Amino acid sequence: MSYSDQFFKAIGVQAGRGGNLSQFSKSAGVPVDRLKFYNQSNVIPSGKDLKLITKASGVSESILKLKMGRLDKDLLEAIQEYANEIAPLISKHEPTIESPQTECTLEFQTKLGKLYKGDCYTLLKSMRSDSIDMVFADPPFNLSKLYPSEIDDNLKTEKYLHWCQEWLYECIRVLKPGGALYLWNLPKWNAALTNFLESYLTFRNWIGVDIKYSLPIANRLYPSHYSLLYYIKGDKPKTFHADRLPMQVCPKCYGDIKDYGGYKDKMNPKGVNLTDIWTDIPPVRHAKYKRRDGSNELSLKLLDRVIEMSTDKGDVVFDPFGGSGTTYMAAELKKRKWIGCEIGPLDVITDRFELIDSEKDILDSYRDKLNALFPENIRKNREKRGIWTCESVRKVSQSELFD
Ligand SMILES: C[S@@+](CC[C@H](N)C(=O)[O-])C[C@H]1O[C@@H](n2cnc3c(N)ncnc32)[C@H](O)[C@@H]1O
Repeated sequence: MSYSDQFFKAIGVQAGRGGNLSQFSKSAGVPVDRLKFYNQSNVIPSGKDLKLITKASGVSESILKLKMGRLDKDLLEAIQEYANEIAPLISKHEPTIESPQTECTLEFQTKLGKLYKGDCYTLLKSMRSDSIDMVFADPPFNLSKLYPSEIDDNLKTEKYLHWCQEWLYECIRVLKPGGALYLWNLPKWNAALTNFLESYLTFRNWIGVDIKYSLPIANRLYPSHYSLLYYIKGDKPKTFHADRLPMQVCPKCYGDIKDYGGYKDKMNPKGVNLTDIWTDIPPVRHAKYKRRDGSNELSLKLLDRVIEMSTDKGDVVFDPFGGSGTTYMAAELKKRKWIGCEIGPLDVITDRFELIDSEKDILDSYRDKLNALFPENIRKNREKRGIWTCESVRKVSQSELFD
């Protein structure tokens, strides 16, 4: 994925046959490969290259940054200072909407939820401001994937980011004060979107969800986490109750994996605090859990956790990108109202609701192991093997008080 020639356009260069790229390279004294790199990654040259390029093109550093859409502190300060002069010029600009703009129709309903077919941007435009308690969005990752909906998943970088900003802006508008917005994406895209989100919301966490999502690439670190951005509208979350997790034990002998030394009796019997690194979310690969082909279905466990954390029963959850309907299923089972949307076929989602009982069993099996330092099965096995439990360390510390 690359940008659409913003750098070349800014300096008046045309690549390809009949273009002036190699001529410019010679006159500037900057190799063609490096010019191509600045163009493809939309990176502003620095150091000697910057001097050479601005001299050869006659384009100033500020114009270069403006035309490449890279606004740094100095430029922003200048724009703030001359806002009144600039505003009339900006108002001439017609905003471009990249979304396909299909109509949205209500196609499926449950006691708690409504599922629409169509473009989420259209649906969002019709939704009331400040009406949603939690938004969870798992958009396409722009990885040239073939979706059943045949959407274009190979946009130029800046187009993809603009598109994300369009629907995110509407998601923010419909969010209630104190409501939570979760954005699931590759770290590369979420990093690029934080600046926009920071303009409207309050940052809570960058949650690293430990799932390997790609094969190792030479000269790179092995990509092993998805990013889950967690923001709220306003200064305080209206709801926040994070689950507590069981202590990690050896799956074979049930013994401790870490040394808790003298702190055993200080451990909260309800479990350990949830951190911003989640290592217990399974990828959905197993046929038993998988609802549709392709790898873009999230685990019910992930949705259970965020819905639990940021909503109460009866609250409204909105997910603009239905996919296989994981968010809607989790919301329904957890007695939250939900609004959903999917541009592609809906049968995967509607069929899934026919299997709601088995989905409930899966969800219950996750919840059974939460909010206890040692879930029942583990506690019994530790007791049997004479390994400490919350009860045993408490008894010991009490007995230490008496002879
Ligand atoms: C990554 S998947 C979501 C997977 C989902 N979280 C799950 O667990 O099954 C993204 C989905 O968004 C849908 N989509 C893409 N563009 C859309 C749009 N503008 N409006 C609504 N849905 C869209 C795609 O068809 C795809 O099914």
